[in-house]
Amino acid sequence: MITHKPDVCIIGSGIAGLIAALECAKFSNVLIITKNKLTESNSMYAQGGIAAPISIKDSPQTHYEDTLKAGCFHNNNETVKIVTKHAKSAIDDLINYGVQFDKTNNKLDLVKEGAHSIARVLHSKDVTGLEIMNCLIKKIKETNNISILENTSVNELIIENNSCIGCYANNLETNYTIESKFMCMTTGGSGYLFEKTSNPKIATGDGLYLAYVAGCRLIDLEFIQFHPTGFKYSEFNYFLISEALRGEGAKLINSNGSYFMKSYHKQADLAPRDIVARAIYDQLNQNNTVYLDCRSLERNVIKKFPTITQKAKENNINLLEDLLPVTPVVHYIMGGILTNLNAQTDITNLYAIGEVACNGLHGANRLASNSLLEGIVFAKNAAASIKKVIKKTSHTKTKRKQINTETVNKKLRQKIQNLLWKNCGIIRNTSDLQKAANELRKLSKLSPFNKTPKNTQWLKLPYLFINAALHRKENCGSHFIGNQNKKGKYWITQCKFNQLQTYTQFPKIKA
Ligand code: SIN
Repeated sequence: MITHKPDVCIIGSGIAGLIAALECAKFSNVLIITKNKLTESNSMYAQGGIAAPISIKDSPQTHYEDTLKAGCFHNNNETVKIVTKHAKSAIDDLINYGVQFDKTNNKLDLVKEGAHSIARVLHSKDVTGLEIMNCLIKKIKETNNISILENTSVNELIIENNSCIGCYANNLETNYTIESKFMCMTTGGSGYLFEKTSNPKIATGDGLYLAYVAGCRLIDLEFIQFHPTGFKYSEFNYFLISEALRGEGAKLINSNGSYFMKSYHKQADLAPRDIVARAIYDQLNQNNTVYLDCRSLERNVIKKFPTITQKAKENNINLLEDLLPVTPVVHYIMGGILTNLNAQTDITNLYAIGEVACNGLHGANRLASNSLLEGIVFAKNAAASIKKVIKKTSHTKTKRKQINTETVNKKLRQKIQNLLWKNCGIIRNTSDLQKAANELRKLSKLSPFNKTPKNTQWLKLPYLFINAALHRKENCGSHFIGNQNKKGKYWITQCKFNQLQTYTQFPKIKA
């Protein structure tokens, strides 16, 4: 057993984790624990980019309004205000870390994505996440007071008197006890709990589960964003086809040759993601195949998407000549560990940042390319909050014994992924959700592995997602509980933003 005593321990190595580490390293010793390589995170795979109102035609106010409309006004207005106000300085930070965003005529190239009223997404070809993360990782490795534990899983947060004093972790060789003054949960998403997802295998909601077990409130788990355009390239694998392609003029078309999106929403192919995903779902249910048609795009536009072009080519699809089959996939969880504007959770000295957290930025449906931005702004808020109290905080010694991690059984995993995809998907209904909840209860009793943390996580988290979906009776943003409106067109209810005033009261967490 090895004991580490960092001032700040960061679990996860996406953009939120790395920015939090770099910010905290300015005044403390930091340890990053990541269950894979530092280079494996959801952030790495972000294609489209990062939204910021930097055009002279744009403003934080317009970005704010677009974020609220996409989120169906379920957002926390204060959070949206803060994030849109600090977007420009977040971009300046990235440029200072060496990030090269694409430029046209020496000016930053901005593209449009769904539900944005103006082009405001900065990008690095179609590998924006990779470019950002490579620059951040380089800086992390140059920073002396940041240590890294790779391929290491955290099994339990150590809580005493409602305060987080550390965690237990292990890898194949070693068990670790971490005694930290502050803990930042930045483990990212949960998409891999579902059968069809754009997320990598690591996105299994670990941080959500650890925080839940420790006593944090989770919120808004019914809001799961389905990205409209995943490309199935092997039995269980989907490759994300960036919305930025539609921003450049690519269009969805069905097997009858109809560009159907204009009949679903006035913003057609650039309607909010939830609406496009439901429209595709509706087309697929009518036995249509749905394709992305990029054939009218100029060659120099297609050049902005080398990775997507390459993936298509590997599957014998030439984007300038052929249609690319697409289907919605789970992409992003809007809900998460409830936090305040400093990223503080219900537990003292435990912070949560990025996709694992819910600070109310995204509401019921995330505006495209807002999440990398959120990671930066909230990592800086968390670090500023820690800095204020670090001198008054000391380490606490822990004596308890840790539990070891077990890997989930493959059959159980696949069963649960399928169960969630089928019953807690794009269109839900109460009866299927209830059946799925019962099935999970049964599986928990049957599973011979149900005493180990990973298996419990795989059984419990899906239950929490299903339970959240069961509790919200009205359609709102990405949560669609199957009730058709009077016209019998279930996607149309979502267009009437101003009639969907279903605010959540964000309970106050003590600063
Ligand atoms: C995309 O490029 O379509 C994904 C961007 C995002 O999810 O924000």
